[in-house]
Amino acid sequence: MKASSLQSICQAKLWLAPLAGYTDQAFRQLCKENGADVLVSEMVSADGLSRDSLKTIQYVHFDEVERPFGIQLFGSDPLVMARAAELCLDYKPDFIDINMGCPVKKVVKRGAGSALMKEPKRAWEIVSEVRSVLGDSCLLGVKFRSGWNPQSLNYIEFGKMMEDAGADFICLHARTQSQMFSGEADWAHIAALKKELRIPLIGNGDVKSPEDAGRMITETACDSVMIGRGALGKPWIFSQSKQLWESGDYKPVTKSKLQETIFRFIDLSLKFKPERVVYKELRSQLCHYTKGLAGSAELRQQINRAESTDQIKELITQSEAFRLL
Ligand SMILES: Cc1cc2nc3c(=O)[nH]c(=O)nc-3n(C[C@H](O)[C@H](O)[C@H](O)COP(=O)(O)O)c2cc1C
Repeated sequence: MKASSLQSICQAKLWLAPLAGYTDQAFRQLCKENGADVLVSEMVSADGLSRDSLKTIQYVHFDEVERPFGIQLFGSDPLVMARAAELCLDYKPDFIDINMGCPVKKVVKRGAGSALMKEPKRAWEIVSEVRSVLGDSCLLGVKFRSGWNPQSLNYIEFGKMMEDAGADFICLHARTQSQMFSGEADWAHIAALKKELRIPLIGNGDVKSPEDAGRMITETACDSVMIGRGALGKPWIFSQSKQLWESGDYKPVTKSKLQETIFRFIDLSLKFKPERVVYKELRSQLCHYTKGLAGSAELRQQINRAESTDQIKELITQSEAFRLL
């Protein structure tokens, strides 16, 4: 049972990366409708979950349509992480993912995220404790980076340790902590780690187009590809990548598909959040969809002043940017 579900989530699949502040239920479902195979929650604090914090628990919810779905946990204490993973089992996720890649200060200073790459023994204990509470009921993944900085690239030893501690699969974001989110991801690290692991490897970093997704698989032999920022404002990157793999080409996105996608995103958002929250969040989220369209700067200013989702839809329908359908 475990072996077949591992194969079904890791073999030539397209994953939506966890992106705190973006990959809420609405965006995840939008990506699923546009071809994403595997979805992950944004990172959830193990401490928060163990304290039963309501704010934390909302990040764990998902619908059946989002399967295969994983809950991502971050933290630094092996027992607290294990307790949080046990609590997650009530929600019946397909997998638990452990974040050992987050580079941001407030996470790292608590010894969590990418700080664990400097403490491999503690990282090993976390994976081992979480594995023992999950048993065979749920898969376990670990997502980490190439290392802390270019002088300490330890992704190969680290990956092998995580495998030894009981991880079912690994995701490598091929940047160091010191790069944060800039500079280039070094896919050679993904290729090198793939050669050393027995468990599946998900490659991540700088997949910005359907061509990149295919190239990452060819160049690194990774089992699956995870896409983060490349899906913001372009959820169809998943279906286009599949079209490219299957037929050697893909359909470009028309303005009518773009408008339809934005309206769908608004409707999905309203399923999960109240109107007053959605129209405010759309001010920042819609920038990703309108970037590069002629007349989009004016549209964005109008959206920033809008006070309802209906008004935003009307502005889009009337906008010059969408007129040339
Ligand atoms: C705004 C933002 C939020 C992120 N949140 C998370 C997170 O919650 N958990 C995680 O493992 N990685 C997180 N990441 C890292 C991404 O999952 C991914 O590893 C990184 O963006 C590289 O992939 P990309 O080049 O396809 O975007 C985040 C990245 C960004 C830009």
